[in-house]
Amino acid sequence: MNVLKRWGPYTQMSKVATAGPVVIDKAEGVYVWDEAGHRYLDAHAGLWLSNIGYGRPEIIEAVSRQAQQLSWFSSFGGFANRPSLMLAEKLVNVLSPDGMGTVFFSNDGSEAVETALKICRQYWKLRGHAEKYKFIGRHYAYHGVTLGALSVAGITANRQAFEPLLTGVRHAPAPYRNHCTFHAAASVCTLACARELERLIQLEGPHSVAAFIAEPIQAAGGVIIPPPEYLAQVRDICRQYDVLFIADEVVTAFGRLGEWTGSRYYGIKPDLMTFAKGITSGYLPLGATAVTPEIMEVFMNAPHDGPELRHGNTYSGHPLAATAALANIAVIEEEQLLARAAKMGEYLHARVRQLADEFPDLVDDADAVGLLGRVELSAQEDGRGKAAARIAARMQEQGVIVRPVEDVITLSPPLIISEEEIDMILNALRAALLGE
Ligand SMILES: Cc1ncc(COP(=O)(O)O)c(C=O)c1O
Repeated sequence: MNVLKRWGPYTQMSKVATAGPVVIDKAEGVYVWDEAGHRYLDAHAGLWLSNIGYGRPEIIEAVSRQAQQLSWFSSFGGFANRPSLMLAEKLVNVLSPDGMGTVFFSNDGSEAVETALKICRQYWKLRGHAEKYKFIGRHYAYHGVTLGALSVAGITANRQAFEPLLTGVRHAPAPYRNHCTFHAAASVCTLACARELERLIQLEGPHSVAAFIAEPIQAAGGVIIPPPEYLAQVRDICRQYDVLFIADEVVTAFGRLGEWTGSRYYGIKPDLMTFAKGITSGYLPLGATAVTPEIMEVFMNAPHDGPELRHGNTYSGHPLAATAALANIAVIEEEQLLARAAKMGEYLHARVRQLADEFPDLVDDADAVGLLGRVELSAQEDGRGKAAARIAARMQEQGVIVRPVEDVITLSPPLIISEEEIDMILNALRAALLGE
C-alpha cells in the first residue's frame, strides 16, 4: 500500500514514507492495539481527549439508536434536532457556575475558537464599536488550524508557513515559570506576564481590543501550568479595560483538571468558552462555543432582520455528535470522573515529583494538575526537543504512548486510569531515562 496517498496531520511524511504509520486497529479502556497486535497504554488519551476511555458500549449504542431515528438534518434557520437541543440544555446547566447561558455548536476545537473570535467581532459592532476588533493571544498558545485560530496562537513553528495571518493580533507572554520572559525565578514571581497583558492593551488602546484568549493550562505548548493567581489577574485586567475574555477549554474541560472546566478550577468566570475533544471523548467530532447571557442579549437585540450571528457550519448541532456528547457527559456524572481525576491527579503529581527528585540532572521540572501532567527534561546539547522525542519513542517501544512537546513529555491519560496504570507510565518513563 502506498502510504503517501494519505497526507497525515502534523506529520513528517518523509519519515512515514520510510517507517510507515503505526496503524491503530482497536481500543478499549485506556489501551489501544496496533495491527500487529502490540498493546499500548495510551497515556495521552489520543490527543488529550479520550476522557471516559475507549470502547464504551453506552456511547456506541446511543449513537447507533439515534442514527436509525435521524442521522442528520440542517440546523440552519428555524430547524433543530432534539439531541442538540438537549445537549445545549445540559451544557448550560453544567456550565452555569461558569456564567454561560447559550451554546453554539461546530465540529472541532478550531471551529469553536473561530466562532468565538467572530462572535467577539460582531458583538462589538452590534454595540457600535466597530473599531474594537483586535485580539490578544499568548506565546506558546495553541488554538487550532484555521487562520483566525492560528493568528491568536503563539507557537511560531506552526505559524510561519502561513503568514501573513490576521492583522491586529498581539501576543502576551505565557505564565511559564521555568521559561519566564522576565527571567524571574518561580520563588520571586511577581506576575509580570499578567501586567504585560495590561501594557499591551494600553499600547494598542483599549478602544481597539476586542478580546483576549487563553487556555487555562496551555496544553500543546508544553502543559504550561500558570501560578494559581495568574488567571484571576488577567481576568480582572480584561474586565477593567472592557476586553472580552475567551477561555479556550478544548483540553481543560470535562474533567481533565478534576473539574468541569479549567476556569472553575482557577476560580474565574470568562465571557466566552470553547470546547471540543473531551466533550464527546472522541466518539464523534464536536465543537462548542458558549457565551454569557449578556453577550447573547446584544445579539438578540440586534437591529436587523435575518440571522443574528452571520455564521454557521453545515454540521452545526449534528444529532449523532450531540448524542455522543450527552452519553459521554452521563458517564462522567455516573462514574464521578471529576472526583476520580482529582484523586488520580494527586497520585500522578506525587509520582512525577518523585521522578524529578530521582533524576535532578535529567529532569528540569515536573508537575500535574488533575490528569494533565508534564515532565520537562533538562536542556540537551543536541538541541531542543530531541531528547524528549527519544524518550517518547523508547516509551512507545515499551508499550506506553506519550506526547513530546519540545523538551516536555506531556501526560494526559483517560480519566478512568488506575494507580497501577499510572505506575506503568512512570516506570516506562523511568526506564527510558535510564536508557533501558
Ligand atoms: C486548546 C486548544 N484549542 C483548540 C484546539 C483545536 O482543536 P481541533 O484540533 O479539534 O481543531 C486544540 C487542539 O489541540 C487545543 O488544544
